[in-house]
Amino acid sequence: MTDNNSPEPRPGFFRRVWNGFWSTSGVVTVGFTLIAGFLAGIIFWGGFHWSMEMTNTEEFCTGCHTMETNLGEYRETIHYNNRSGVRAICSDCHVPKEWNHKVKAKIMAVKDVYHEVMGTIDTPEKYEDHRLSMAAQTWRKMKKSDSRECRNCHKFDYMDFPVQEARAADAHQRAIDDDMTCIDCHQGIAHQLPEGYQEKYKSVVEDLAADTGNQDGKTVSFAALRAFLGGDDATDVTER
Ligand code: HEC
Ligand code: HEC
Ligand code: HEC
Ligand code: HEC
Repeated sequence: MTDNNSPEPRPGFFRRVWNGFWSTSGVVTVGFTLIAGFLAGIIFWGGFHWSMEMTNTEEFCTGCHTMETNLGEYRETIHYNNRSGVRAICSDCHVPKEWNHKVKAKIMAVKDVYHEVMGTIDTPEKYEDHRLSMAAQTWRKMKKSDSRECRNCHKFDYMDFPVQEARAADAHQRAIDDDMTCIDCHQGIAHQLPEGYQEKYKSVVEDLAADTGNQDGKTVSFAALRAFLGGDDATDVTER
C-alpha cells in the first residue's frame, strides 16, 4: 500500500520559509529588512541615548529649578566649588548611573512635569512649604539605595581615615560597623534644611523599616540609626 501516485506533499511552513530565504528575492528581502531594522535601531537608540544624556545636564534641571532656592543654595556648597575643582551636578546626586535604575528614575520624573504645569513650587513661598516633603522623598530614595549616588564618587574603602578629621574618621568607622549610610548623617549636603527635618528624617526611616523590612540586610541598622540620631552629636553632624 504505497501512495506513489499522490502529489508531493506541500512542504511544511518552516521548510517554505527556509526555501524562501535562500531564493534570490528572499535573500534580498531579508537583507533589506535587517539593514532597515539596524538603521532604525541606531536612530532610535541614538535619540533615546541623547535624550537620556540631555536630561542629565545642569541646564536641564535648572530650567525648572531656577530659583535661588535650588541653584543659589547649591552654589554655596562644596559640591559646586572646592579646592580640587571636581564638581557634583544635580544629576550626579539625583539620577542613578546604572541603566535600569536610570530609566526608572526618568520615568518617575515625568510627574515633575505635571507639577511644573500645576505650579506646585513656582514661588519661593510654595517651595518652602513643599520643601520638607520633597526632601523626605529624596531621603527615602537615598536611604533605600544605600546612598548609591554618593557612592559613585565616595567610597569608605578608599577613604584615608588617618587623614580625615578625627570626628569624621570615628563617625565613618562607626558607619561601617553599624551598617549606616551616607544620608543618615549627611542630610543638607547641597541644600538648606527646613525646620523639623530631624523628626521627618526619623519618620522616613521608620516608615521604610516598616515597609520594606530590612532589604537584603544592607538598607539600615535601624536601631543603630535611631540611637545615633538621639545621641549628643546628632545635631553637629547634620547641621552643616
Ligand atoms: C519640567 C520641570 C522640571 C525639570 C526639567 C526638573 N524638575 Fe525636579 N521637580 C519639578 C517640580 C515641579 C517638582 C515638585 C514635584 C513634586 O511635588 O513631587 C520637582 C521635584 C524634584 C525633586 C524633589 C523630590 C522628588 O523626587 O520629587 C528633586 C530631587 C528634583 N526635582 C530634582 C530634579 C533634577 C535633578 C532634575 C534634572 C535631572 C530635575 N529635577 C528636573 C520640576 C522639574
Ligand atoms: C560627582 C561626584 C560626587 C558625588 C555624586 C557626591 N560627591 Fe561629595 N564630594 C565630591 C567632591 C569632589 C568633594 C570635594 C572634595 C574636596 O574637598 O576637594 C566632595 C565633598 C563631600 C563632603 C565634604 C564636605 C566638607 O565640608 O568637607 C561630604 C560630606 C560629601 N561630599 C558627601 C556627599 C554625599 C552625602 C553625597 C550623596 C548625597 C555626595 N557627597 C555625592 C564629589 C561627589
Ligand atoms: C555616622 C555618621 C556618618 C555617616 C554614616 C557618614 N558620615 Fe561622612 N562624616 C561624618 C562626620 C561627623 C564628618 C565630619 C564633619 C563633617 O564634615 O560633617 C564627616 C565627614 C565626611 C567627609 C569630609 C571628610 C574630610 O576629612 O574632609 C566626607 C567626604 C564624607 N563625610 C562623606 C561620607 C560619605 C560619602 C558617606 C557614605 C558612604 C558618609 N560620609 C557617611 C559622619 C558620617
Ligand atoms: C551633593 C549631592 C547633591 C547635589 C549636587 C544636588 N542635590 Fe538636591 N538633594 C540632595 C539631598 C541629599 C537632598 C535631600 C534633602 C537634603 O538632605 O538636603 C536633596 C534634595 C533636593 C530637592 C528637594 C527639596 C529640598 O530643597 O530639599 C530638590 C528639589 C533638589 N534636591 C534639586 C536639586 C537640583 C536642581 C540640583 C542642582 C542645582 C541639586 N539638587 C543638586 C543632594 C544633592
